[in-house]
Amino acid sequence: MIVHCWITEMNIIALWSCVVFAVDMFISVGCQPVFLKTKNGVIKGRILKSRDGRPYHSYTGIPYAKPPIQRLRFMPPESAEPWNGTWDATKEPNICIQEGYVDGYEDCLYLNVYAPETDKKRLPVIFWIHGGGFTWGHSGSGLFGPAYFMDKDVVLVTINYRLGILGFLSTEDDVLPGNYGMKDQVLALRWVRENIITFNGDPDQVTICGGSAGSASVGFHMLSPMSKGLFHKAILQSGSPVCIWANCPSGVSRKRAYSVATIAGCNFNNSEDILNCLRILPAKYLQSEMHTKLFTWLKYPAILFSPVVENCKSRQEAFLCHHPIYDFQQESFVPAIIGMNSAEGGLMAIPLYNRTSLLYTEFSEDFNRLWPIISGYNFYVTPENIHKIVDKIRKKYYPSGSINDDSHSETVKMFTDSIFTKCVFEMAYQLSSPVYGYIYNYQNEFSHNKIYGSCDKPLGVTHGDEMNSLFKMNDLNPIELNEEDLKVSKLMINIWYKFVSTDIPTVDGLENSTPWSKFTQSDQSIMYVDSDRPVLIKNPYVDVYEFWKKLPITSIKKKL
Ligand SMILES: *[C@@H]1O[C@H](CO)[C@@H](O)[C@H](O)[C@H]1NC(C)=O
Ligand SMILES: *[C@@H]1O[C@H](CO)[C@@H](O)[C@H](O)[C@H]1NC(C)=O
Ligand SMILES: *[C@@H]1O[C@H](CO)[C@@H](O)[C@H](O)[C@H]1NC(C)=O
Repeated sequence: MIVHCWITEMNIIALWSCVVFAVDMFISVGCQPVFLKTKNGVIKGRILKSRDGRPYHSYTGIPYAKPPIQRLRFMPPESAEPWNGTWDATKEPNICIQEGYVDGYEDCLYLNVYAPETDKKRLPVIFWIHGGGFTWGHSGSGLFGPAYFMDKDVVLVTINYRLGILGFLSTEDDVLPGNYGMKDQVLALRWVRENIITFNGDPDQVTICGGSAGSASVGFHMLSPMSKGLFHKAILQSGSPVCIWANCPSGVSRKRAYSVATIAGCNFNNSEDILNCLRILPAKYLQSEMHTKLFTWLKYPAILFSPVVENCKSRQEAFLCHHPIYDFQQESFVPAIIGMNSAEGGLMAIPLYNRTSLLYTEFSEDFNRLWPIISGYNFYVTPENIHKIVDKIRKKYYPSGSINDDSHSETVKMFTDSIFTKCVFEMAYQLSSPVYGYIYNYQNEFSHNKIYGSCDKPLGVTHGDEMNSLFKMNDLNPIELNEEDLKVSKLMINIWYKFVSTDIPTVDGLENSTPWSKFTQSDQSIMYVDSDRPVLIKNPYVDVYEFWKKLPITSIKKKL
């Protein structure tokens, strides 16, 4: 009998209780647990089954950085130290401490690697960056379960990075430059470059991929000098670095850092004082109590800490040198998929309504004040312009003039366009490398609108709903996909896999089928997915984009 274990090809040092069930077959059951020798030390993983029943190796909670605590809080991450003995990579890693979640830790810089058993060598790598407004979320297998991708010859890496104040506080100087969470992502990418070959991944075929703020992060990496050379393709799902919510204009982050220091009772005359004061406060206080004190109305603005422009002439490594909205400068010219869902705005509309009513009448009565706060446009628009803009928006999206108990759909549309359509397509227009556009309009049985609030009215394919097709999301939807959802899921996995593994994406992910035409200014072809038979259509958002583009939205630029 020939014992041929996939992992014997790698730096495997031990196989426990290997039971051989068949000759000339990869051992799928019996190789449990599995051990792998990485650069930093030995890790212990597990063998699990993909959706179609193929064995894959799961390593969860591998440290890629030193715990960013004490002297490393508010600092760029440092590479993880080697360890003696065996690192247990069978458990879910710590979740980064965050607002509204009790089980988070400051020590959270871990990643997960999943690799299928196959005799193919050097598989393409998908590097997944979770969303959550740079403030919430994690990449654990309960939200981003690998079972669907593991049907394919691809290695999946999912990461945690610092969030909220701890990830993004910035005084916009060299003392607290910000972007710690983005630098965590870069360090994780460097880890992939160094280590992924050990997991049968190809460091020269890395696709960075993300949703929402993870998608904006992917876009930021395309603009960052730090990320250059670490990835080769990009997938942006429902977010971009030119989104208002992914940025602040200069000066805003600094003011916010001063607010944090003031609320925390710091005695400060300069940024060093702020750093010294905030570094010793409990992380829990900063991420919960502090965070809620910064809201202006209800829980808005939802995103208080996000990437900032740094001084790229300082001695420290800087992540971002130019403001994406005012001075778009691409650094990595890699092919990109960019797209969104048809009714993203449910994310923002759902919390404002229940089935029968608008829950906050002031949203209608005080729309001119509240909409800019909720959308984050108030940081970008001069007070003189804000009323003009908001009046136009109200007229366009609520033609009757009233925002009432039944205007759910209008509000969804208004947020879809203001927060997503505009900046997703802006990104597609700005990039000078190949872009493939998509619109996901398939209604799965599970909708993320269920978690955005208590309004149970069907309001379309919302923010995050494409995840139904890409990841097994046990924590949100423990049941199996129904027959139709499964077909669309297999389609999406095929399409994404074709893009990451070859140079010719197709509209159904199959070989030799209709090529997915590039999205260009002159040929605005977009793949439209509303069933398991996607089609290429013309960009339906040309007029919407024009409307938003014409508003004097970035008029505040020169004022700060
Ligand atoms: C690992 O073991 C060696 C030899 O015993 C020791 O010198 C070293 O400090 C240990 N490293 C760690 C990280 O424990
Ligand atoms: C800030 O300056 C004032 C006045 O010089 C001084 O009393 C105070 O101690 C300084 N604060 C810190 C944290 O150094
Ligand atoms: C919706 O909210 C309104 C106002 O708070 C309340 O009167 C009504 O009962 C709620 N309806 C449902 C279906 O929960």
